[in-house]
Formats: sequence, C-alpha cells, structure tokens
Amino acid sequence: MPWLKLRLRADKERAQEFADALENLGALAVSLEDAGDEPQFDVGRGDTAAWKDTWISGLFPIDSSPQTLFDQLAHDCALATLPPHDVELVPDQDWARVWMEQFKPLRFGQRLWVCPSWLTPPDPDAVTILLDPGLAFGSGTHATTALCLEWLERQALAAKSIIDYGCGSGILAIAALKLGARTAWGIDTDPQALAVSRDNATRNGIGAELTLLAPEQLPAGLQADIVLANILAGPLIELAGRLTAAVTPGGWLVLSGLLAEQVLEVSEYYVKNFDFTEEIRGDWALLSGVRRAPTG
Ligand SMILES: C[S@@+](CC[C@H](N)C(=O)[O-])C[C@H]1O[C@@H](n2cnc3c(N)ncnc32)[C@H](O)[C@@H]1O
Repeated sequence: MPWLKLRLRADKERAQEFADALENLGALAVSLEDAGDEPQFDVGRGDTAAWKDTWISGLFPIDSSPQTLFDQLAHDCALATLPPHDVELVPDQDWARVWMEQFKPLRFGQRLWVCPSWLTPPDPDAVTILLDPGLAFGSGTHATTALCLEWLERQALAAKSIIDYGCGSGILAIAALKLGARTAWGIDTDPQALAVSRDNATRNGIGAELTLLAPEQLPAGLQADIVLANILAGPLIELAGRLTAAVTPGGWLVLSGLLAEQVLEVSEYYVKNFDFTEEIRGDWALLSGVRRAPTG
C-alpha cells in the first residue's frame, strides 16, 4: 500500500515541535533530515534536531487529506502561515528502506543498546535488544521511549515482574527482560503491535516470559512490581484506576507520553497513591513513583 509523506521545513528551534505535532496528528512514522548541507549529526534518543534547517516528514495513510492535516498542524503550532511544505506519494517499500537507513544503534544509560535487527550490535558486552519496530511505535528514537529505557536501565530488575501498558514494538518489556526481569506482560489495543512485539521477543530469545495481550484479556487482579505506560495524557487519565491497581503496593509506576505542560493535570489522577518524580526531555515528561501501601 502506498503512503502519503507530508513534509515541512523548519529551523532548529521549531523542528521538534513540528515532529511532535505530526505524531499527534497520527503519523505512523516521523523522521527528520538535513534540509541544508550540514554534516549528519546523530539525532538519536529523542534529541532535538541538530541542523539549522530541517525537513520534518510524517507518514500518513493514503486516504488522509493533506490539506486538513496541514491546517490542523498550523492550528496546533499557532502558525499564521505554513513554512515551505509538500506532499509525496511513497511506495511502501521505499519508505521502509528510507526509514531503515535512518535507524541506527542507540545506547541508553551505561549498558543498554537498541540495535536495528539487520545491523551488528556495536558492543558485544552490553545488553542489546535487536529490534525491528515495523510500523509499531517504539524504536528508542522518541524522547518518551528513551526516558523509559533510561529509567529501566538504572533499576535492579532481577526477579521483578513488569507490565508494559501500550507496548507498541515491545521495546520496554523486552528491555526489562533482557536487563534481568523475571516476567513481563505487554498490553496493546493494536493487534499489529502485539504481533510485532512477539516477533521482536523471538529475535531476542524471549519466549514464555513475555505474555502479550489486548487490554480486555488482562487477568483480573493482575499486579506487577513495575508498571510502565508510555501512552498519551488522555489514556493515562482514563486508565488511572486500572494502572494504579496493577502496581503491587511498594512497586513502581512509570508514566510517559505526556507533555511537560500536562504533568500537573495527569498527576492529579494519581496523587492519592503516588508521589511522582518528574523527568523532562524537550517537550516530553516521564513520571515515576512508588505505590504507597494502603492505609487503615
Ligand atoms: C507511544 S506508543 C509506546 C510504545 C512503546 N511502549 C514505547 O515506549 O515506545 C503507545 C502504544 O499504546 C497503545 N495504546 C494506545 N491506547 C491504548 C490503551 N488504551 N490501552 C492499551 N494500549 C494503548 C498504542 O497502540 C501504541 O502502541
């Protein structure tokens, strides 16, 4: 199936904002490339674009309306007029090739690497996840995934159980298992994400220790030592009761996918059970906190 590639040009200050806006509009993939003639920088781990002048591209289903998407983006980014922009029809395979060339091994913390499954891991002594996200979210290049991976990398995970709520490519659950966790559940509303997660688990020698389920299949009363949810602010609010109940008292809840400006709004729904610590990267936030034991 061909795709629509919407592109806009931006300076260094606004590139990440436009990338985030394309993603919020439902882009299946977002990429940044040099619009000038500067040497290639590593734009990994959710860093803001390093070029003075950047093309930001978003990939949308073929039946999307480019005009509606550009109008909405102008509204979301408070633009009176759009910067230079264009639309291209991209054959499926070409997009996959362009994307694969841009996806490079990335390191998180001291010992965790995410390596495209078609490349050789850079450090044989490190903990490496071999990953092919396909069209599921979660390659490590987005700030929210990077924040979650760095959080996991700092924990002692031996014997811990994990729920990765909104697992996308399975990247967080697989990282946790490779870092020593005992067992993990990956939950997603998107059947394609569950299939991609299984493929990625197999690639990493992970079998029955990872259970992949749709939300309605999650066993009643299931609790884990660590629950991670990298979804958007809306679902984090809607799911507050469910996510809280899924954390063992004394266990950790890690929320990401919310914007820095949404931290207060989202925290309110969790304040009864958690004192959150926040980490901010660019526009994005991660909240982590230990579930208090029930009182009385
Ligand atoms: C931002 S991606 C995160 C993927 C991956 N965990 C990561 O950190 O990169 C969010 C994922 O949550 C899933 N999702 C969205 N709403 C959901 C819900 N209410 N319940 C479960 N999964 C949901 C989406 O399908 C998507 O795969």
